[in-house]
Amino acid sequence: MNFAVRKCLTLVLIGLGLLHTAENSKILVVFSHLGRSHFDVFEPYLEQLAAKGHQLLVISHFPRKRPTPNYKDIDLKAITKVNQTVNILSYADIAKMDQIVSAFVLSAWAAEVCENAFEHPDVQKLIKSDEKFDLLITETFNTDCFLAFAHRFQIPVIGFSSCVFMPWTPDRVGNPDNPAYIPTQFVASSDRMDFTERFSNTFWYLFHKLHYSFLMDPRAHKIAKKHFGESLPALSTLARNTSLIFVNNHFSVNRPRPLVPGIVEVGGIHMKPAKTLSKVSPASYPSFIVYYQY
Ligand SMILES: *[C@@H]1O[C@H](CO)[C@@H](O)[C@H](O)[C@H]1NC(C)=O
Ligand SMILES: *[C@@H]1O[C@H](CO)[C@@H](O)[C@H](O)[C@H]1NC(C)=O
Repeated sequence: MNFAVRKCLTLVLIGLGLLHTAENSKILVVFSHLGRSHFDVFEPYLEQLAAKGHQLLVISHFPRKRPTPNYKDIDLKAITKVNQTVNILSYADIAKMDQIVSAFVLSAWAAEVCENAFEHPDVQKLIKSDEKFDLLITETFNTDCFLAFAHRFQIPVIGFSSCVFMPWTPDRVGNPDNPAYIPTQFVASSDRMDFTERFSNTFWYLFHKLHYSFLMDPRAHKIAKKHFGESLPALSTLARNTSLIFVNNHFSVNRPRPLVPGIVEVGGIHMKPAKTLSKVSPASYPSFIVYYQY
């Protein structure tokens, strides 16, 4: 290869390198829910974004234990006075919760977390700052109050649901959720419903959507307006601006359903490559296993 060609190639490579740097985004991340199980799903995704060179500012109850390059935390634990982020609900509690209790619990958690998170001094500073971001990534779960950040910074939104869709999620991106054959979250039916199951599914589908639109959403809007000003558009308007939703579903587990291209099933995103098992020699088997081998 002659010198000129090599020089030219080097320049092209440097150019590509620069282009690559220019692609790195500044991302505001808000995962406000205080349950560790939700954050466990988001965490590996955030780690990968930071590892790929994106600059993250993460508002959550789960700050990094060790400093991670490109990853800055605003820790909500102090302000929400949370001393427990795991085992908040036992299976026995969940079994006891009916549709109405579930709706009210989600609603109470949402109001609490919106109210507290916006009061955090660093969040206050952020709201008043003229920082520039390229993207908001936030949980699509029991509140849309944090979509106010997307409006404030005029940035697109990626939603992330750590569980199956809440009943009020699919229509923000125009996704079908016909209750005749798609069981609503909180209803224990499969996708092969008889008439009674369809009737009950439709009833609860309407109940949850109306509860969200007429009680949960206006309450969250009121809280957000206190901090972002009276001119903040309705949260449902901001929600309809969502560009993409990742959902921790997989059709093999949660049954197939129609999905628009704006929804991507990422079930299993939090699974890390399996570690190799330690070697076990026959001598270290418990004696009863050795016995049954012969
Ligand atoms: C958190 O701590 C407070 C005071 O230390 C205590 O009263 C409360 O029960 C604790 N909450 C939980 C969920 O453990
Ligand atoms: C919707 O998002 C775009 C940027 O992606 C922004 O320009 C527009 O203002 C947003 N709409 C609202 C109502 O915030």
